[in-house]
Amino acid sequence: MLESIQSSIDHKLILLTGANGKTGHAIIRNLAARGASVRALVRSPSSADTVAKLGAIPVIGNLRNDDDVDAAFEGVDRVYHLCPGLQPDDVEITQRMIRSAKDSRVKLFGYHSVSYPQLPEVAFHWKKLLSEIEILHSGLTFFIVRPCQYMQNVLWSLPAILNEGVFALPWSADRRMVSVDVEDMGEAIANILTRPGFEGGTYEFCSVKQALTRHEMAEMLGRAFNRKIVAGTRPIEKALQAERFKHYTPEQLEQLGSLFKFFDLNGTPGFNNRTLAMILGREPTSYEAFARRLVQELNVN
Ligand SMILES: NC(=O)c1ccc[n+]([C@@H]2O[C@H](COP(=O)([O-])OP(=O)(O)OC[C@H]3O[C@@H](n4cnc5c(N)ncnc54)[C@H](OP(=O)(O)O)[C@@H]3O)[C@@H](O)[C@H]2O)c1
Repeated sequence: MLESIQSSIDHKLILLTGANGKTGHAIIRNLAARGASVRALVRSPSSADTVAKLGAIPVIGNLRNDDDVDAAFEGVDRVYHLCPGLQPDDVEITQRMIRSAKDSRVKLFGYHSVSYPQLPEVAFHWKKLLSEIEILHSGLTFFIVRPCQYMQNVLWSLPAILNEGVFALPWSADRRMVSVDVEDMGEAIANILTRPGFEGGTYEFCSVKQALTRHEMAEMLGRAFNRKIVAGTRPIEKALQAERFKHYTPEQLEQLGSLFKFFDLNGTPGFNNRTLAMILGREPTSYEAFARRLVQELNVN
């Protein structure tokens, strides 16, 4: 069995776009651990250094440049296309990727989508659905991953959470939310790309068994970090003024606000963790285990 997996990996180059984000890093680490060859498309020499250290072969280029994308596809057998978030031209970028993938006769085209692509009021999610439709019509053998909110998003506000003892987000703390561990996701995507039988699927990724309120998540973080943490709610307008949104356009801010409103009304219905469990061949990571791992990784306490 091991031998047949190994021989199916050998000599097959996998192209990964958007490779220098947290998702890309987890995918590279997991593919490299399986002995797969990964070509990582990045934009700068410093990003190239980072992905090379994780085990990828970097290629510098821009997803908006036809020649760069064509060059990245040279000799590629399979591709995982991870378009960075909130891009107004997500669909045009996907069309360019499809053209090069077809010219290069790739055998498998993976696409990183979002949860709830079917919301027209959240334009950056709706564009992922339009990209999915392009892929559907492409004639390529494909798979699609729709991840729910990343557990690792908490890292954006962790210093404030630990300083103030309040886990505040711009939707009701009573709404039940699901989340996915980026490490589970990287492992599962590496499985899909290197093992037979997963092509053709549209996979919703969620790690937690049950959706949790922010009160429950704050309690789990508090236990792991050994301090009192309570849930709070921040008005959307205030949340959008955060430092990390500083470079966002007014349109991008409006779209994020629409997503927060959806969460405030609905939480995150319609997800369970059985798909991820099936692809991983083990139970996915619970929020409690994620919080404990975070403490170890950050070497806090
Ligand atoms: N966070 C969540 O909860 C969540 C949930 C579901 C889905 N998602 C989706 O997951 C995807 C990836 O998220 P992420 O946080 O891992 O990555 P990301 O930070 O959004 O983007 C990944 C990388 O893409 C590169 N990039 C940007 N523009 C580029 C261009 N024009 N050409 C080539 N490369 C370019 C950047 O790296 P360099 O500049 O270093 O090359 C960046 O680090 C997004 O589409 C997001 O919508 C996120």
